Amino acid sequence: MNNQFALTNSQLLDIANDLKSKIETGLQKDGTEIKCLPTYIHPKKDGIEGEATVFDLGGTNFRAAVVSVGKETEITGLVEKDITEMKTAGFTEDDLYNSQAQIITQLNLPKNSPIGYCFSYPAKSLINGDAELINWTKGVSIAGMAGKPVGEPLVEFLNKNTNGSFNKIAVVNDTITSLFAGLMNPGYDAYIGLIVGTGTNMATFFPSEYIPKIKNLEGWSGETPVNLESGNFNPPHLTALDVEVDENSDNKGFQKFEKAISGMYLGRIFRAAFPNDGLDVKLDAAGLSKMMNNPQDYKLEYVETAFQIYERSARLVAASLVGLVQNLNSAYPSVKKVQVLAEGSLFWSKVKAHDTKYVDIVNATIKELLAELKLDATVEISRIENANLIGAAMSVLS
Ligand code: BGC
Repeated sequence: MNNQFALTNSQLLDIANDLKSKIETGLQKDGTEIKCLPTYIHPKKDGIEGEATVFDLGGTNFRAAVVSVGKETEITGLVEKDITEMKTAGFTEDDLYNSQAQIITQLNLPKNSPIGYCFSYPAKSLINGDAELINWTKGVSIAGMAGKPVGEPLVEFLNKNTNGSFNKIAVVNDTITSLFAGLMNPGYDAYIGLIVGTGTNMATFFPSEYIPKIKNLEGWSGETPVNLESGNFNPPHLTALDVEVDENSDNKGFQKFEKAISGMYLGRIFRAAFPNDGLDVKLDAAGLSKMMNNPQDYKLEYVETAFQIYERSARLVAASLVGLVQNLNSAYPSVKKVQVLAEGSLFWSKVKAHDTKYVDIVNATIKELLAELKLDATVEISRIENANLIGAAMSVLS
Protein backbone atom coordinates (compact mmCIF):
# COMPACT_ATOMS: atom_id res chain seq x y z
CA MET A 1 0.00 0.00 0.00
CA ASN A 2 1.12 3.52 -0.77
CA ASN A 3 2.90 5.04 2.24
CA GLN A 4 2.94 8.82 2.32
CA PHE A 5 4.70 8.66 5.70
CA ALA A 6 7.66 6.59 4.48
CA LEU A 7 11.10 8.01 5.17
CA THR A 8 14.23 6.55 3.61
CA ASN A 9 17.33 6.06 5.72
CA SER A 10 18.98 8.85 3.81
CA GLN A 11 16.14 11.21 4.75
CA LEU A 12 16.44 10.06 8.36
CA LEU A 13 20.15 10.86 8.25
CA ASP A 14 19.32 14.39 7.02
CA ILE A 15 17.05 14.69 10.04
CA ALA A 16 19.71 13.33 12.42
CA ASN A 17 22.35 15.71 11.03
CA ASP A 18 20.03 18.69 11.15
CA LEU A 19 19.22 18.00 14.80
CA LYS A 20 22.91 17.57 15.60
CA SER A 21 23.76 20.97 14.19
CA LYS A 22 20.76 22.66 15.86
CA ILE A 23 21.83 21.18 19.22
CA GLU A 24 25.27 22.75 18.68
CA THR A 25 23.59 26.12 18.08
CA GLY A 26 21.40 25.67 21.17
CA LEU A 27 24.47 25.02 23.30
CA GLN A 28 25.95 28.31 22.09
CA LYS A 29 23.14 30.73 22.81
CA ASP A 30 19.66 31.18 24.27
CA GLY A 31 16.46 31.51 22.29
CA THR A 32 17.25 28.98 19.56
CA GLU A 33 15.05 26.26 18.03
CA ILE A 34 16.57 23.56 20.25
CA LYS A 35 16.67 25.31 23.60
CA CYS A 36 19.32 23.11 25.31
CA LEU A 37 18.36 24.12 28.84
CA PRO A 38 21.06 23.42 31.43
CA THR A 39 20.01 22.03 34.83
CA TYR A 40 22.30 22.99 37.70
CA ILE A 41 22.35 19.72 39.59
CA HIS A 42 25.14 17.18 39.79
CA PRO A 43 23.29 13.94 40.41
CA LYS A 44 25.01 11.58 42.80
CA LYS A 45 25.08 8.02 41.59
CA ASP A 46 25.99 6.48 44.92
CA GLY A 47 25.67 7.42 48.50
CA ILE A 48 22.37 9.26 48.23
CA GLU A 49 20.30 8.73 51.33
CA GLY A 50 17.13 10.29 52.56
CA GLU A 51 13.50 10.85 51.95
CA ALA A 52 11.85 13.23 49.52
CA THR A 53 8.30 14.15 48.64
CA VAL A 54 7.96 13.93 44.87
CA PHE A 55 5.48 15.48 42.48
CA ASP A 56 5.16 14.67 38.80
CA LEU A 57 3.16 16.93 36.49
CA GLY A 58 2.88 15.36 33.05
CA GLY A 59 0.69 16.01 30.02
CA THR A 60 -2.14 13.86 31.35
CA ASN A 61 -1.56 13.00 35.01
CA PHE A 62 -0.37 14.51 38.25
CA ARG A 63 1.27 12.14 40.71
CA ALA A 64 2.66 12.50 44.20
CA ALA A 65 4.54 10.07 46.44
CA VAL A 66 7.15 9.80 49.15
CA VAL A 67 10.41 8.29 47.94
CA SER A 68 13.16 6.99 50.22
CA VAL A 69 16.50 6.55 48.59
CA GLY A 70 19.27 4.49 50.19
CA LYS A 71 20.44 0.94 49.74
CA GLU A 72 16.91 0.20 48.58
CA THR A 73 14.63 2.68 46.87
CA GLU A 74 11.13 2.69 48.25
CA ILE A 75 8.09 4.51 46.95
CA THR A 76 5.19 4.91 49.34
CA GLY A 77 1.69 6.32 49.13
CA LEU A 78 1.68 6.96 45.39
CA VAL A 79 -1.43 8.95 44.42
CA GLU A 80 -2.31 9.78 40.85
CA LYS A 81 -5.00 11.80 39.13
CA ASP A 82 -5.95 12.64 35.58
CA ILE A 83 -5.38 16.37 35.34
CA THR A 84 -6.47 17.08 31.76
CA GLU A 85 -8.85 19.66 33.27
CA MET A 86 -5.85 22.00 33.24
CA LYS A 87 -6.23 22.13 29.45
CA THR A 88 -9.66 23.77 29.67
CA ALA A 89 -10.00 27.47 28.88
CA GLY A 90 -10.02 29.74 31.92
CA PHE A 91 -8.16 27.27 34.18
CA THR A 92 -6.01 29.46 36.45
CA GLU A 93 -2.74 29.18 38.33
CA ASP A 94 -4.68 28.91 41.61
CA ASP A 95 -6.87 26.18 40.11
CA LEU A 96 -3.69 24.26 39.33
CA TYR A 97 -2.30 24.59 42.88
CA ASN A 98 -5.69 23.65 44.32
CA SER A 99 -5.93 20.52 42.16
CA GLN A 100 -2.38 19.59 43.06
CA ALA A 101 -2.98 20.21 46.79
CA GLN A 102 -6.04 17.95 46.74
CA ILE A 103 -3.88 15.09 45.50
CA ILE A 104 -0.86 15.90 47.65
CA THR A 105 -2.91 15.98 50.86
CA GLN A 106 -3.88 12.35 50.27
CA LEU A 107 -0.27 11.54 51.11
CA ASN A 108 0.86 11.06 54.65
CA LEU A 109 2.90 14.27 54.41
CA PRO A 110 6.30 14.12 56.06
CA LYS A 111 7.49 17.22 57.95
CA ASN A 112 10.30 19.27 56.40
CA SER A 113 10.74 16.88 53.56
CA PRO A 114 12.50 18.28 50.48
CA ILE A 115 10.44 18.22 47.29
CA GLY A 116 11.60 16.83 43.96
CA TYR A 117 9.21 18.14 41.32
CA CYS A 118 9.22 16.48 37.89
CA PHE A 119 7.75 19.17 35.64
CA SER A 120 7.20 18.10 32.03
CA TYR A 121 7.26 21.49 30.31
CA PRO A 122 10.06 23.76 29.08
CA ALA A 123 11.51 25.60 32.06
CA LYS A 124 14.71 27.52 32.69
CA SER A 125 16.56 26.05 35.67
CA LEU A 126 17.69 28.45 38.35
CA ILE A 127 20.81 27.93 40.39
CA ASN A 128 18.71 27.51 43.59
CA GLY A 129 17.01 24.41 42.17
CA ASP A 130 13.75 26.06 41.14
CA ALA A 131 12.86 26.63 37.46
CA GLU A 132 11.00 29.30 35.50
CA LEU A 133 8.35 28.23 33.03
CA ILE A 134 9.29 29.31 29.49
CA ASN A 135 6.07 28.31 27.74
CA TRP A 136 3.40 25.65 28.06
CA THR A 137 3.09 22.78 25.55
CA LYS A 138 0.74 19.79 25.03
CA GLY A 139 -2.41 21.89 24.93
CA VAL A 140 -1.93 23.56 28.34
CA SER A 141 -1.98 27.36 28.44
CA ILE A 142 -2.58 28.54 32.00
CA ALA A 143 -2.24 32.33 31.89
CA GLY A 144 0.30 34.34 33.85
CA MET A 145 2.74 31.56 34.74
CA ALA A 146 5.35 31.91 31.98
CA GLY A 147 8.52 33.71 33.06
CA LYS A 148 7.92 32.93 36.74
CA PRO A 149 9.31 30.23 39.06
CA VAL A 150 7.27 27.04 39.18
CA GLY A 151 8.38 25.64 42.54
CA GLU A 152 8.34 28.50 45.03
CA PRO A 153 4.67 29.53 44.62
CA LEU A 154 3.59 25.90 44.94
CA VAL A 155 5.60 25.52 48.17
CA GLU A 156 4.01 28.71 49.54
CA PHE A 157 0.56 27.50 48.59
CA LEU A 158 1.11 24.12 50.23
CA ASN A 159 2.57 25.59 53.41
CA LYS A 160 -0.44 27.90 53.69
CA ASN A 161 -3.20 25.50 52.74
CA THR A 162 -2.09 22.06 53.90
CA ASN A 163 -0.48 20.64 57.02
CA GLY A 164 2.79 20.10 55.16
CA SER A 165 5.84 22.19 55.95
CA PHE A 166 8.13 22.33 52.97
CA ASN A 167 11.13 24.48 52.18
CA LYS A 168 13.53 23.04 49.65
CA ILE A 169 12.32 22.25 46.13
CA ALA A 170 14.12 21.09 43.00
CA VAL A 171 12.15 21.45 39.76
CA VAL A 172 13.40 19.27 36.92
CA ASN A 173 12.14 18.23 33.50
CA ASP A 174 10.88 14.65 32.99
CA THR A 175 13.76 13.94 30.58
CA ILE A 176 16.18 14.96 33.35
CA THR A 177 14.52 12.65 35.90
CA SER A 178 14.79 9.80 33.35
CA LEU A 179 18.40 10.71 32.68
CA PHE A 180 19.18 10.62 36.42
CA ALA A 181 17.28 7.39 37.02
CA GLY A 182 19.27 5.84 34.15
CA LEU A 183 22.47 6.36 36.15
CA MET A 184 21.33 3.48 38.32
CA ASN A 185 22.56 1.25 35.46
CA PRO A 186 26.32 1.83 35.57
CA GLY A 187 28.89 1.07 32.90
CA TYR A 188 27.95 3.30 29.99
CA ASP A 189 30.03 6.03 28.32
CA ALA A 190 27.03 8.32 27.93
CA TYR A 191 23.42 8.56 29.04
CA ILE A 192 20.26 9.91 27.42
CA GLY A 193 16.80 10.44 28.96
CA LEU A 194 13.99 10.10 26.42
CA ILE A 195 10.23 10.64 26.68
CA VAL A 196 7.75 9.53 24.04
CA GLY A 197 4.29 9.83 25.54
CA THR A 198 1.77 12.65 25.31
CA GLY A 199 4.76 14.80 24.30
CA THR A 200 8.35 14.06 23.37
CA ASN A 201 11.80 15.30 24.39
CA MET A 202 15.37 14.21 25.19
CA ALA A 203 18.09 15.13 27.71
CA THR A 204 21.73 14.22 28.16
CA PHE A 205 24.92 15.28 29.93
CA PHE A 206 27.48 17.50 28.24
CA PRO A 207 30.80 18.65 29.72
CA SER A 208 30.30 22.28 30.83
CA GLU A 209 33.21 23.41 28.67
CA TYR A 210 31.32 22.04 25.64
CA ILE A 211 28.42 24.43 26.36
CA PRO A 212 29.65 27.90 25.31
CA LYS A 213 26.61 29.67 26.78
CA ILE A 214 27.45 28.60 30.35
CA LYS A 215 31.19 28.07 30.06
CA ASN A 216 32.01 31.04 32.28
CA LEU A 217 29.24 30.62 34.81
CA GLU A 218 30.72 31.18 38.26
CA GLY A 219 30.50 28.31 40.70
CA TRP A 220 29.44 25.75 38.10
CA SER A 221 31.58 23.18 36.31
CA GLY A 222 31.70 19.50 35.42
CA GLU A 223 28.99 17.53 33.71
CA THR A 224 25.86 19.52 32.99
CA PRO A 225 22.50 17.82 32.52
CA VAL A 226 20.87 19.47 29.49
CA ASN A 227 17.17 19.34 28.68
CA LEU A 228 17.21 19.70 24.89
CA GLU A 229 13.49 20.43 24.36
CA SER A 230 13.87 18.45 21.13
CA GLY A 231 10.08 18.41 20.66
CA ASN A 232 10.48 21.89 19.18
CA PHE A 233 12.78 20.60 16.42
CA ASN A 234 11.57 21.56 12.93
CA PRO A 235 12.98 18.67 10.88
CA PRO A 236 13.19 18.36 7.12
CA HIS A 237 10.97 15.83 5.26
CA LEU A 238 7.68 16.32 7.09
CA THR A 239 4.53 16.08 4.96
CA ALA A 240 1.70 18.43 3.98
CA LEU A 241 -0.42 16.63 6.59
CA ASP A 242 2.04 17.64 9.32
CA VAL A 243 1.76 21.24 8.14
CA GLU A 244 -2.01 20.97 8.47
CA VAL A 245 -1.84 19.49 11.98
CA ASP A 246 0.49 22.30 12.99
CA GLU A 247 -1.74 24.99 11.47
CA ASN A 248 -4.76 23.72 13.35
CA SER A 249 -2.95 23.48 16.68
CA ASP A 250 -2.99 25.98 19.54
CA ASN A 251 0.78 26.54 19.36
CA LYS A 252 1.24 26.91 15.62
CA GLY A 253 4.86 26.97 14.45
CA PHE A 254 6.18 25.30 17.61
CA GLN A 255 6.82 21.68 18.66
CA LYS A 256 6.75 20.40 15.07
CA PHE A 257 8.77 17.29 15.86
CA GLU A 258 6.47 16.56 18.79
CA LYS A 259 3.47 16.96 16.48
CA ALA A 260 4.86 14.30 14.11
CA ILE A 261 5.76 11.87 16.88
CA SER A 262 3.94 12.04 20.15
CA GLY A 263 0.74 10.45 21.40
CA MET A 264 -1.14 13.72 21.61
CA TYR A 265 -0.94 14.28 17.85
CA LEU A 266 -0.99 10.88 16.11
CA GLY A 267 -4.79 10.89 15.91
CA ARG A 268 -4.75 14.35 14.37
CA ILE A 269 -2.35 13.23 11.64
CA PHE A 270 -4.63 10.30 10.92
CA ARG A 271 -7.68 12.56 10.67
CA ALA A 272 -5.79 14.86 8.31
CA ALA A 273 -5.12 11.83 6.09
CA PHE A 274 -8.87 11.16 5.76
CA PRO A 275 -10.38 14.64 5.63
CA ASN A 276 -13.66 13.52 4.04
CA ASP A 277 -14.44 10.61 6.34
CA GLY A 278 -16.10 12.58 9.13
CA LEU A 279 -13.81 11.01 11.73
CA ASP A 280 -14.44 11.70 15.41
CA VAL A 281 -12.41 14.73 16.57
CA LYS A 282 -11.58 12.78 19.69
CA LEU A 283 -9.73 10.12 17.70
CA ASP A 284 -6.33 9.92 19.44
CA ALA A 285 -3.32 7.62 19.74
CA ALA A 286 -5.43 5.19 21.78
CA GLY A 287 -7.93 5.14 18.89
CA LEU A 288 -5.15 4.29 16.45
CA SER A 289 -3.94 1.50 18.75
CA LYS A 290 -7.46 0.12 18.79
CA MET A 291 -7.42 -0.06 14.98
CA MET A 292 -4.00 -1.70 14.93
CA ASN A 293 -5.00 -4.19 17.63
CA ASN A 294 -8.37 -5.13 16.11
CA PRO A 295 -7.57 -5.09 12.40
CA GLN A 296 -10.59 -7.31 11.59
CA ASP A 297 -12.95 -4.50 12.73
CA TYR A 298 -11.55 -1.73 10.53
CA LYS A 299 -10.92 -0.96 6.87
CA LEU A 300 -7.53 -2.22 5.76
CA GLU A 301 -6.67 1.31 4.65
CA TYR A 302 -7.26 2.63 8.20
CA VAL A 303 -5.22 -0.10 9.87
CA GLU A 304 -2.33 0.37 7.47
CA THR A 305 -2.33 4.16 7.71
CA ALA A 306 -2.44 4.00 11.51
CA PHE A 307 0.55 1.66 11.33
CA GLN A 308 2.44 3.91 8.91
CA ILE A 309 2.01 6.87 11.28
CA TYR A 310 3.11 4.75 14.25
CA GLU A 311 6.11 3.42 12.36
CA ARG A 312 7.19 6.87 11.17
CA SER A 313 7.01 8.14 14.75
CA ALA A 314 9.40 5.39 15.89
CA ARG A 315 11.77 5.98 12.97
CA LEU A 316 11.86 9.72 13.67
CA VAL A 317 12.68 9.02 17.31
CA ALA A 318 15.54 6.78 16.16
CA ALA A 319 16.85 9.53 13.86
CA SER A 320 16.80 12.04 16.72
CA LEU A 321 18.71 9.63 18.97
CA VAL A 322 21.33 9.12 16.26
CA GLY A 323 21.63 12.91 15.89
CA LEU A 324 22.28 13.22 19.61
CA VAL A 325 24.74 10.30 19.66
CA GLN A 326 26.76 12.26 17.09
CA ASN A 327 26.84 15.28 19.44
CA LEU A 328 28.01 13.02 22.27
CA ASN A 329 30.67 11.66 19.99
CA SER A 330 32.12 15.09 19.42
CA ALA A 331 31.72 16.18 23.06
CA TYR A 332 33.56 13.19 24.52
CA PRO A 333 36.72 11.49 23.27
CA SER A 334 35.25 8.03 22.94
CA VAL A 335 31.61 7.15 23.22
CA LYS A 336 31.01 3.51 22.49
CA LYS A 337 28.16 2.48 24.77
CA VAL A 338 25.19 4.79 25.16
CA GLN A 339 22.25 4.09 27.41
CA VAL A 340 18.83 5.55 26.69
CA LEU A 341 16.40 5.47 29.60
CA ALA A 342 13.04 5.75 27.87
CA GLU A 343 9.68 6.62 29.39
CA GLY A 344 6.23 7.10 27.94
CA SER A 345 3.23 4.99 27.03
CA LEU A 346 3.74 5.30 23.28
CA PHE A 347 7.39 4.29 23.49
CA TRP A 348 6.64 1.10 25.39
CA SER A 349 3.58 0.18 23.34
CA LYS A 350 3.12 -2.77 21.03
CA VAL A 351 0.50 -3.41 18.38
CA LYS A 352 -0.97 -6.48 16.74
CA ALA A 353 -0.69 -5.08 13.21
CA HIS A 354 2.57 -6.45 11.82
CA ASP A 355 3.11 -7.86 15.34
CA THR A 356 5.22 -4.88 16.27
CA LYS A 357 6.76 -3.25 19.33
CA TYR A 358 7.56 0.45 18.99
CA VAL A 359 10.92 -0.05 20.69
CA ASP A 360 11.88 -2.72 18.13
CA ILE A 361 11.39 -0.27 15.25
CA VAL A 362 13.50 2.30 17.12
CA ASN A 363 16.29 -0.20 17.82
CA ALA A 364 16.38 -1.56 14.26
CA THR A 365 16.45 1.92 12.74
CA ILE A 366 19.20 3.13 15.08
CA LYS A 367 21.37 0.17 14.05
CA GLU A 368 20.85 0.88 10.35
CA LEU A 369 21.62 4.58 10.70
CA LEU A 370 24.71 4.07 12.84
CA ALA A 371 25.98 1.54 10.31
CA GLU A 372 25.43 3.98 7.45
CA LEU A 373 27.35 6.61 9.38
CA LYS A 374 30.07 4.04 10.15
CA LEU A 375 29.74 5.07 13.75
CA ASP A 376 31.12 2.44 16.03
CA ALA A 377 28.70 2.91 18.93
CA THR A 378 25.92 0.87 20.47
CA VAL A 379 22.74 2.29 21.89
CA GLU A 380 20.91 0.32 24.56
CA ILE A 381 17.39 1.31 25.45
CA SER A 382 16.14 0.48 28.90
CA ARG A 383 13.32 1.08 31.27
CA ILE A 384 13.11 1.56 35.03
CA GLU A 385 9.84 1.37 36.90
CA ASN A 386 8.87 4.81 38.21
CA ALA A 387 11.95 6.46 36.72
CA ASN A 388 10.41 9.93 37.01
CA LEU A 389 9.66 9.61 40.71
CA ILE A 390 13.08 8.17 41.50
CA GLY A 391 14.87 10.75 39.34
CA ALA A 392 12.93 13.57 41.01
CA ALA A 393 14.00 12.31 44.45
CA MET A 394 17.62 12.02 43.25
CA SER A 395 17.44 15.62 42.02
CA VAL A 396 16.60 17.09 45.39
CA LEU A 397 18.68 14.69 47.51
CA SER A 398 21.92 14.97 45.48
C1 BGC B 1 7.69 19.44 26.78
C2 BGC B 1 8.93 18.86 27.41
C3 BGC B 1 8.66 17.47 27.95
C4 BGC B 1 8.03 16.60 26.88
C5 BGC B 1 7.72 15.19 27.36
C6 BGC B 1 7.07 18.46 25.80
O1 BGC B 1 5.85 18.95 25.34
O2 BGC B 1 8.01 20.64 26.11
O3 BGC B 1 9.41 19.70 28.45
O4 BGC B 1 9.86 16.90 28.39
O5 BGC B 1 6.84 17.21 26.41
O6 BGC B 1 6.84 15.19 28.44
